[in-house]
Parts: sequence; C-alpha cells; structure tokens
Amino acid sequence: MEVIVLAAGQGKRMRSVLPKVLQPLAAKPMLAHVLDTARTLEARRIVVVYGHGGEVVREALDAPDLAWARQDPPQGTGHAVQQAMPLVEDGDTALILYGDVPLIGVPTLQRLMAAASDTALALLTVSMDNPTGYGRILRDGAGKVTRIVEEKDATADERQVQEVNTGILAAPVTRLRQWLGNLKNDNAQGEYYLTDIIAMAVADGLEVVTTQPDAFEETLGVNNKTQLAELERIYQRNIARSLTDAGVTVIDPARLDVRGSLECGRDVEIDINCVFEGTVVLGDGVRIGANCIVRDATLGAGTRVAPFSQIEDTITGEACIIGPYARTRPGTVLGNDVHLGNFVEVKNSTIADHSKANHLAYVGDADIGQRVNVGAGTITCNYDGANKFRTVIEDDVFIGSDTQLVAPVRVGKGATLGAGTTLTKDAPAEQLTVSRAKQISLAGWQRPVKVKK
Ligand code: UD1
Ligand code: CA
Repeated sequence: MEVIVLAAGQGKRMRSVLPKVLQPLAAKPMLAHVLDTARTLEARRIVVVYGHGGEVVREALDAPDLAWARQDPPQGTGHAVQQAMPLVEDGDTALILYGDVPLIGVPTLQRLMAAASDTALALLTVSMDNPTGYGRILRDGAGKVTRIVEEKDATADERQVQEVNTGILAAPVTRLRQWLGNLKNDNAQGEYYLTDIIAMAVADGLEVVTTQPDAFEETLGVNNKTQLAELERIYQRNIARSLTDAGVTVIDPARLDVRGSLECGRDVEIDINCVFEGTVVLGDGVRIGANCIVRDATLGAGTRVAPFSQIEDTITGEACIIGPYARTRPGTVLGNDVHLGNFVEVKNSTIADHSKANHLAYVGDADIGQRVNVGAGTITCNYDGANKFRTVIEDDVFIGSDTQLVAPVRVGKGATLGAGTTLTKDAPAEQLTVSRAKQISLAGWQRPVKVKK
C-alpha cells in the first residue's frame, strides 16, 4: 500500500503562524495523527504533499519512512495527488488521506482498503442531513456510482443528494496515474479535481465501491480553531470512553485530558480536571485526585496523588502518598510507602521506602535512605550559583524542621539534625548535630515604647 497525504492547504482560517497541519490535537500535530494511522496500516511508503511555507512541516515531522512532494501553488486536490505520483510505484494500491482530517480510524481504512483492488476503486462516503459544501456522490438507476459532482458545479437536483465524498479513497496506482494525467480544470473553481477520476474509473470499466466510516467524526476536517477544539473534545471523549470500558473509574469523562498515552491497571480512579501528558503508567489501585498534572510517570500500585499536584518524569514504588500541592520534577524516584506532603518539591532525587517529607521542603539532587523523616521547611542547597552537588541522607535519619543541607554533604545513618541547622559538614551517624546560636533569655529586658513628640 502506498499512502498519499494531502497537506498543502495554508489554513489561513486558523489565523496562526503555525501551519494548519502542525496545529496540535491532544498535544500532537494533526498531521502526526494521520501519519501514525498510516503507519499502523503498514504503508510501504507515505508521501506527504506540502505547500508554500510547508518546509516547517517537513522539518517538524520528517522521518525515514516519509517522502515529501511539493505543490506550489495549489491547483486542486487532483493536482496535489499528481505531485506525489513520481514517488509511488505502479502495481500497488494508493490510499489518499488528508493532513487536516486527523481522527480517521484504522478499522475504517482497513475496510476501505479491502474494498479496493486492481479492478475496483473504493470511496469513503457519508450521508449528511445538510451536505452543503461537499462533493455529491451521483449514482445511476441501478445504484452504481457514476461520478462525483462538486457543490459549485452541481445542478439544483444534484445538490439534493445527501451522500457526500469524504475525500478519502483507495485506487490502483497504475490507473490513478493515467487518470490524473487526463484531468482538466474546466470547472467552476478552475481546479484539477481529484474527484473527476471517479467518472474515468467508471469509463474504464472499474467498479466504484463505497464504504462508510465507523464514526462520522472520523471524516471531519479542520479549517479553524473552533473545529480544532471540537475535534479535541471528540478525541478526549473517545479516550475517556476506552478507559472506562477498560475498568478505570473516571469521575467525569468530560473533564479528563490525555495528551499522550495513559496505561492503567485495575481499579484506578481519576478525579476531575486531570491532565496526563507523554507516557503515563498507573499501577493497580492508583488514585489521582482532582486537578493534577501527570507527565511521563510510572506510579506503583496503590499510590495516591492528592489534588493539585504536578508529577513529571517520576517513578514511584507502591503505596506512596503524594500531595496535595506536591511537585515532583524530572529524575524523581520514590521507593514504596514514601510520603510527600503539601508544598514539597523533589528533583533528580531518590527517596527510599517509608521515608517522609510531609510539609514545605525542597529535595534536589539528593539520595535519601529508608525511614527518613524530613522535617518541615528542610531545603537541600544543591546549587552554589555555578555547580550542583548531591546530598546523601542515610537510613533512619531524622531531620529537624527548617534545616539547610549545604551540598555536597552526607548525613550518616541514624543521625538527628536539630531544627534550624545549617549543615555545611557531614553529620556523623547516630549523633545529634545542631548548628544554632545558643538560646538566651534576658531578665528585666523591656520592650521599646513609642517616643511622644
Ligand atoms: C474536497 C472534495 C469534495 C469533498 C471534500 C471533503 C475535491 C475536488 N473535492 O473538497 O468532493 O466533499 O473535499 O472535505 O477533491 N489540498 C491540497 N492541495 C490543493 C487543494 C487541496 O493539498 O491544491 C488539500 C487541502 O489542504 C485539504 C484537502 O486537500 O486538506 C481538501 O481540500 P479542500 O479545498 O478542503 O477541498 P474541498 O474543495 O472542500
Ligand atoms: Ca474543504
């Protein structure tokens, strides 16, 4: 199979400097959705037809399995496919897709491809209550497709037809090449219409078979941000549906956003307004509270993330409790039963089993052992303005509140740091280390009083 993706439209109505097909749907360019779908179908080659200003598209998405054909200026869909033909081989079937029709699904295309052959052209059609603007599928008395007429070229009677062309079709390459060579632009728009090949196929004795998509939305194109937003909601609704079908508790499917892949174990629960980005894996029984953002993370079974937490590039063991209002940044690795409470930030650090930092802490570039208690207000001073250094805290350490650990520094096993300590040298194991001015009280001291003028 050869796939040709038309992506030469400028997309002026997006009112954006970003080319239309690079506009993101679920954080991924629309065209990338179409390319990934084509890859799932195991296309031999994918040719993308790009237009004026499309070099940005090519730079953004180029890959070894892609070929690029330039169409400038655009002179219609038939002209666009013509530009791709030098790059496709005779003898195979060509599937025509569109860079701005991102929701097209694999099963729909498999059915379409199955209907195409050396002797049959397959067209994806839908019926619409209001077909205005679309090419109409015209049939003879026996119901066989005879041709497609564009809205602007259609008679009043032809405009009554509700079956329309989605634009997506599959045709034998050898024939397609001949037909495209014979296209004329003597029509209302002065364009080379791809749709004119239908009548040519019929004249050559090929059968024109029509198939329909699994869901109407699959064929929707995007011309402006309003339509892009509509497709985003459809896409997200479909993802929420597949999660709930798989047994995930999604408290409100309309308030979930997955911008990447989300894999869930059994009995996972996701509260409202959560955003999942990149590759996220949630183990059995994981619960994500409301308003959390989770990106590129693997959370172990039974882990609970309380509301308003942001988790990024993080791996946790089982039964951790994170948040509310916690932030884990890249390189965070937690063992089992680790607790991170409110306003705790962790970066590029490992925290081993049963350790806790429950309030207001910064843990950066640190290795923390098991059963460590990190007191409120503790900060690793990991950066001297030029370089970063590590802090090592061994097992069973107790760190008093409001402690600064000036890295590089090590706290030995079982050590206790007194509250308010500024640790600049290693703290020995099992001892109390405290750096604090001795507390004094002044008997007879009096508060200043305001001086009268
Ligand atoms: C086309 C079909 C119409 C169908 C409709 C479905 C033709 C002549 N008509 O109409 O039957 O109902 O799509 O939406 O094919 N493109 C290029 N280069 C060009 C022209 C278009 O790459 O020179 C791309 C566009 O970027 C777009 C797609 O082809 O992705 C369709 O183009 P558009 O102008 O929207 O086609 P329509 O006239 O709406
Ligand atoms: Ca259009």
